[in-house]
Amino acid sequence: MDSIIVRGNGPLKGQIPIAGAKNACLALMPATLLSEEPLTLTNAPRLSDIRTMTELLASLGAEVTALQEGKVLAASCHGEINPVADYDIVRKMRASNLVLGPLLARLGHAVVSLPGGCAIGARPMDIHVDALSALGAQIELRDGYLHAKTQGGLKGAVHEMRFASVGATENFLMAASLAKGTSVLKNAAREPEIVDLADCLRAMGAQIEGDGTGTIEIQGVDRLHGATHPVVADRIELGTYMLAPAICGGEVECLGGRIELIESFCERLDAAGVSVEQTKAGIKVSRKNGRIRAVDVVTEPFPGFPTDLQAQMMALLCTAEGTSVLEEKIFENRFMHAPELLRMGANIEVHGGHATVHGVDKLRGARVMATDLRASVSLILAGLAAEGETMVSRVYHLDRGYERVEDKLSAVGAHIERVKGE
Ligand code: UD1
Repeated sequence: MDSIIVRGNGPLKGQIPIAGAKNACLALMPATLLSEEPLTLTNAPRLSDIRTMTELLASLGAEVTALQEGKVLAASCHGEINPVADYDIVRKMRASNLVLGPLLARLGHAVVSLPGGCAIGARPMDIHVDALSALGAQIELRDGYLHAKTQGGLKGAVHEMRFASVGATENFLMAASLAKGTSVLKNAAREPEIVDLADCLRAMGAQIEGDGTGTIEIQGVDRLHGATHPVVADRIELGTYMLAPAICGGEVECLGGRIELIESFCERLDAAGVSVEQTKAGIKVSRKNGRIRAVDVVTEPFPGFPTDLQAQMMALLCTAEGTSVLEEKIFENRFMHAPELLRMGANIEVHGGHATVHGVDKLRGARVMATDLRASVSLILAGLAAEGETMVSRVYHLDRGYERVEDKLSAVGAHIERVKGE
């Protein structure tokens, strides 16, 4: 298994191109199941999670071809469709559950294994099941699989989710696009990836309004057609790389970044003493004068501070002046990076959903282990701030969500390399 070696760094300088959003692309790809005509996605990220979704869609009868070194995905689903999403593929990635809504909409039935994914909490499927049941699906759990069917297809309905789940909103949007009549989803998730999916579905002929707000209205249509859609920029990759100059000093411009994608994160960076500036090409980040200041962080659904940037923000706050409190409100088990950061000399106490970070002057390089996707990259960021060498092992998590992290960081002057494992 590969490892990443990072050495404590001086100031960084240069530009980092931000890829298309993994989480948007993982929702856009299953939309191909909704139409017989081709769906082309441009600005796709090159990640192992995307390859897993390609494999899953192929097992269902869709074809997804990676063009231009993977930056363009040409998808098509015109032949016979297999309604069974098998455990062997689904267990690799929770986002596999995003085939449930499209399969139900196109075929009227589906059998989808319960998902796996990062070990960051129980992550049940009840909100998805309630949302699709509201559209007339009958869903039961047998042998680890959700068995879903409809009588005469899905029917439009008004439904309010108990929590603004991102994945359940995406499944509902795709399913309701082909349901009979009008659907309204209340307490819908508002993440930019939802808006991106709605944009793509509209380009395919769907009638959707209100995406980006808490209430989305969908007028079902008989069929959807082909489309070409550019994947929105990855706000989590963006936030991650914005933290690199905040940690090491210097100035980095993240190309393709837009502040409106991560306003609450930018506001916390500003409070911590980091300058964030929108430029024509992206977002320019540098440290203001002096040491980073402690700030409190609460993760919340969009437009709140993203849970997917909590671990990376903690890496920054480890060496801040003062004490920061990070509250994790989305996932119950998402501080697994804290014990690894302790190995590097950080001073962190975790109590349930709160982590208290007492800033230390310096972190020290150590051997650490990546436990999930965002935790892995937080250890790399911490390594950039540490004295000496940090070796991050089990980086397969990292490759699920960051393309060429070592190339992007070394291009701006970071001392980082990948060591190939057996
Ligand atoms: C998506 C993102 C993930 C991000 C998360 C929250 C993708 C592929 N992944 O995940 O990176 O961290 O949003 O911003 O887009 N829940 C239930 N029942 C359900 C569904 C969810 O209890 O049926 C709970 C989960 O356990 C979790 C919370 O709701 O505690 C948020 O989950 P959700 O918004 O659904 O996240 P995902 O779509 O899985």
